[in-house]
Amino acid sequence: MSFNAQQLARPELLTLVPYQSARRIGGQGDIWINANESPFNNSDLEQLNRYPECQPPELINAYSQYTDVAANNIVATRGADEAIELLIRTFCIPGKDTIATFGPTYGMYAISAATFNIGVKKLTLTEDFQLPSQWQQQAAEAKLVFICNPNNPTGSVINKAQLEQAIQSMPNTIVVIDEAYIEFCPAQSVADLLSLYPNLVVLRTLSKAFSLAGARCGFLLANDDIIDLVMRVIAPYPVPLPVAELASKALSKTGINLMQQQVAELNRQGQKLAQELANVAAKVIAPNGNFVLAKFKQVDLVKQLLIDNGIVARAYSDPVLADAIRFSFANKQQTDAIISVIKQIE
Ligand SMILES: Cc1ncc(COP(=O)(O)O)c(C=O)c1O
Repeated sequence: MSFNAQQLARPELLTLVPYQSARRIGGQGDIWINANESPFNNSDLEQLNRYPECQPPELINAYSQYTDVAANNIVATRGADEAIELLIRTFCIPGKDTIATFGPTYGMYAISAATFNIGVKKLTLTEDFQLPSQWQQQAAEAKLVFICNPNNPTGSVINKAQLEQAIQSMPNTIVVIDEAYIEFCPAQSVADLLSLYPNLVVLRTLSKAFSLAGARCGFLLANDDIIDLVMRVIAPYPVPLPVAELASKALSKTGINLMQQQVAELNRQGQKLAQELANVAAKVIAPNGNFVLAKFKQVDLVKQLLIDNGIVARAYSDPVLADAIRFSFANKQQTDAIISVIKQIE
């Protein structure tokens, strides 16, 4: 059986006529009174009194240029978090379907699933953070398989050949590769495999390397059938106009250059931090994103030391990560300050 997105989708979506927003219907004329908008624009931003396009073309085209993925294979969302939720709502039947994840990993796959009463098959990465053998059997029932690459919070990567094998080995399941941190290791991206695999979805965000976490802008990259189904579920206006403008600017040539310079600097600072951590931690996982995970013998003492010095890092309640702390990369001044505190760890 070849991949069929419609067969995987929630059946009620196949006949659903998406909400016909005034923007979608469009029209021609000078007096626009079809969307109960105000005629007064009280902002410096043009057209802020009007609803935005569902998928602002300037933004989609900019992301298409940046990724080399066709514009019609891109959906802009309110952060990658919304893309995760949209996939679950598009493909999973509450109370019946499941998703699969490989932990320890980003928490929102499971939480998003739980909010829709979708089951989660929680598989575990191997000790060196690779996909476990025979995982396909255990994930056989899953509608969506989420693989975070680079993985948050471990910072590890699964190499591209392994990912391609994973995508190939589940031809009737949607394999979602979350590339939220991919700008920190761009060679690992599988976005170029989209044209080969109809069951592949890639998630991206402007929250990390592009420094726009506050703007809430992410992207879902997929083939036409999946895009068509997701567009039936998405809100009529998911991308606020100011966000589209900011995001398009960040994706200009100048914006991309700036991002790349900052990524290089963060990688430099992060390597420095990781080396320093290696002197005092029980284990440090080589970072591929903009963070490094370290495990400590006396983690509570380290946590207290960080708190006492005003450093807010991330600790975990998950028993697998009970002795771990994740340090996001910071600027030089902050990194030097963190390192001087780390040196105090015995
Ligand atoms: C792996 C991963 N995916 C997705 C997200 C969510 O990104 P966004 O800010 O675009 O919603 C995060 C945020 O930390 C993340 O770590």
